[in-house]
Amino acid sequence: MPTAEDLKKILHRIDRKGYKAYRDIEGNYDFAQEGYTLFIDYVQGDPFASPSKLRVIMPQKKAGFPVECFSNKSREIATRDFIIRRFDRAIKKYSKGSRGSGKSGRIHIDRPGQEILERTAAFIDEENLEIRFNIGLPAFGRKIAGKEAIQIIFKEIPTIIDESLLFDNMPQEKLHKHYTTSEDTDFLRNALAERGLIAFVANGSVLPRISGIDPRPMDKDHAILFQSPESMEVKIKLPNAGIIKGMGLRKGINLIAGGGFHGKSTLLQSIEQGIYNHLPGDGREYVVTNPNAVKIRAEDRRNIEKVDISSFINNLPLGKSTKDFSTEDASGSTSQAANIIEAIEAGTEVLMIDEDTSATNFMIRDNRMQQLINKKQEPITPFIDKVRLLYSDYNISTILVMGGSGDYFDVADYVIGMDNYVPKDLTQKANQIKESIDSKRYDEGGDAFGYIKKRIPLARSIDPSKGKKRKKIKSGGKDAIVFGTYHIDISAVEQIADSSQTNSIGEALVYAKKYMDGNNDLSTILEYVDRDIKKYGLNVIGHPNNGDYAIFRKFELAAALNRLRSLEVKQNNDN
Ligand SMILES: Nc1ncnc2c1ncn2[C@@H]1O[C@H](COP(=O)(O)OP(=O)(O)OP(=O)(O)O)[C@@H](O)[C@H]1O
Ligand SMILES: [Mg+2]
Repeated sequence: MPTAEDLKKILHRIDRKGYKAYRDIEGNYDFAQEGYTLFIDYVQGDPFASPSKLRVIMPQKKAGFPVECFSNKSREIATRDFIIRRFDRAIKKYSKGSRGSGKSGRIHIDRPGQEILERTAAFIDEENLEIRFNIGLPAFGRKIAGKEAIQIIFKEIPTIIDESLLFDNMPQEKLHKHYTTSEDTDFLRNALAERGLIAFVANGSVLPRISGIDPRPMDKDHAILFQSPESMEVKIKLPNAGIIKGMGLRKGINLIAGGGFHGKSTLLQSIEQGIYNHLPGDGREYVVTNPNAVKIRAEDRRNIEKVDISSFINNLPLGKSTKDFSTEDASGSTSQAANIIEAIEAGTEVLMIDEDTSATNFMIRDNRMQQLINKKQEPITPFIDKVRLLYSDYNISTILVMGGSGDYFDVADYVIGMDNYVPKDLTQKANQIKESIDSKRYDEGGDAFGYIKKRIPLARSIDPSKGKKRKKIKSGGKDAIVFGTYHIDISAVEQIADSSQTNSIGEALVYAKKYMDGNNDLSTILEYVDRDIKKYGLNVIGHPNNGDYAIFRKFELAAALNRLRSLEVKQNNDN
C-alpha cells in the first residue's frame, strides 16, 4: 500500500496544476505513524462540485475502545453516534475551513441532530473503527492548492482523528452516559408491548422545544416538567438508570383534550418522535413510542395512486371510484383517508392524529350536520365512526389530540386533559358527561372497518434518471427528495427527523425495485428492504462506502414512494 509520504509527493507534484490532476490521489494510504489507513474513495471534478469522499480506518489496537462500548446494537449505534459528534466538534475546533474557490478547504461529516440514529458515517467493531467524511479539495480558481491540501490532510485531519477516534482522548463519562442512556431508551421501548402500552412519557421529561425551528429543549427555568397523572403512572426498571416512572398510554383509543395553548400538540409531537432515541439532555430520552406508530394528517394537493379509501369515502361526485382511488390533487379528507390506509398497508399499530392538522369533516360530523346533509349526499364516513373498528378489526390504536369535539367521548377509552401543561386523567369525568349528555349522533361506521385491497407497485414507474444521468437522487433537507426529474414532497411526513434519512430513502426507492416483480405487494417489498438492511447493513441500499445515510423506517419509505408522482400500482385482485 502507498504510504503517507507517497501521497505527499503526489500533492507536491500536482500543486498549481489543473484541478483534474487531483484524480491522481484516489487510493489508499498507510498513515503508519498516525496509526490509520486513509482512503480517498472519490475525488470531485472541480472545486464547486460535491466534495471528495474520504474514510479513515483505525485498528482497535490503536483506537482502544473497550468492548462494552459496542457490546449490543443499542450501545454500538450510540457509540458510533458519539464518535461522529466528536469528529464534527473537532472539525469546528481545528479546521481552518473555507479557503480558495468553491468548497475548497471545507471538512464535513454527516452531523446528527437531537436523535441518535444509525448512520453510515462511523462504524465500530472489535477489529476497527471507521469514519467517513468529505473534504472540499482546495484550489485557487481551478488550480490545485497543493500546500493547502497538505495542510488539511497532514495537519488538520490527524488532529481531528486524534481527538475523535482515540478512546483515551474521549470524555469517557459522557460517552458512557451516551450509550447507557440509549440502551435504556431501547429497553423502555421494547418493554411497551408486553405491558399493553403504546407510549410512555417519563416524569421529569422536558417536552417543549426552544422554538418552532430549534429542536433543542426549552430551558428548565421556563419548561413545566412532565408529570403523569397518578392513575396512569407506570414503573419500569431500566438496566442502567434504575426505576423510572411516567405516564403509560394503553392500547385502545386515547384522547388528549385541554384548552388552547395548554400543551396538547407538544405532548403528541414528543410521542411522535418517541420512535427515535434522543441525546442525553434532550429532555425526551425517556419518551418512547411503539416503533410502528405513524403520524397521520391531512395533506391536500398530494397525489394518490389507486388506494382503496372506501372505508372512509364513498359516492364521490361523478361516480369516481374509491376502491382504487387515484388523483394528482387530493382534497383534505381524501388525503387524510389515504394517509391512514397507506399506514395500515405498511403495517402500523398506532395512529397519531392532531386536530390542528386534520380535515374537520374527516374527523367529525355532529348531529345537526347529520340532519342537514343526508348520508347519501356525504361521501365521508368520519373517523369517529371508524376509530373503534380500526382497533377491533385491525388491533390499531389511536392517540388523538381533540379539544374541539366532545362527541369523541363516545369512542375513547382514555381521556387526558392538558391543564397548564400538566396532564390530568379525565376519563371518568368524560364518561359521566357522555352518560348525562347524549351526542345524539347516529353511527355511520357499519359493523366492520372494511377490507383493504393490496397494491403491487410497478418497477417501471420508478425512474431516478435525469438527462444523461442514470441516477440523480438528492436530499432536499427533511422536506423533499429530488428523484430523477421528480420532486417528492415529504414535508407533511412529520416523522422524518433528519435530512440524511431522505438521502437513504431516495436510494432505497431504487433498491426496492429489485423486489418489484409484478407479484410482490407493497408491504412484502417493504419487509424485504427492511430485512436486507438488518442483514447487510444500511449501505446495502446504495453505495457501499457512502457516509451520508441514516436509518429510516418502512413507513417513511412507503410515504416517499406513495408521494412519487410517477408511481403506478396494480391492485391484487386475488384478495
Ligand atoms: N411543558 C411545557 N412547559 C412550557 N411550555 C410549554 C410546555 N408544553 C408546551 N409549551 C409551549 O406552549 C405553547 C403551546 O403549546 P401547544 O402548541 O402544544 O398547545 P396546544 O394545546 O396544542 O394549543 P392549540 O389548541 O392552540 O393547538 C408552545 O409555545 C409550547 O412551546
Ligand atoms: Mg395544538
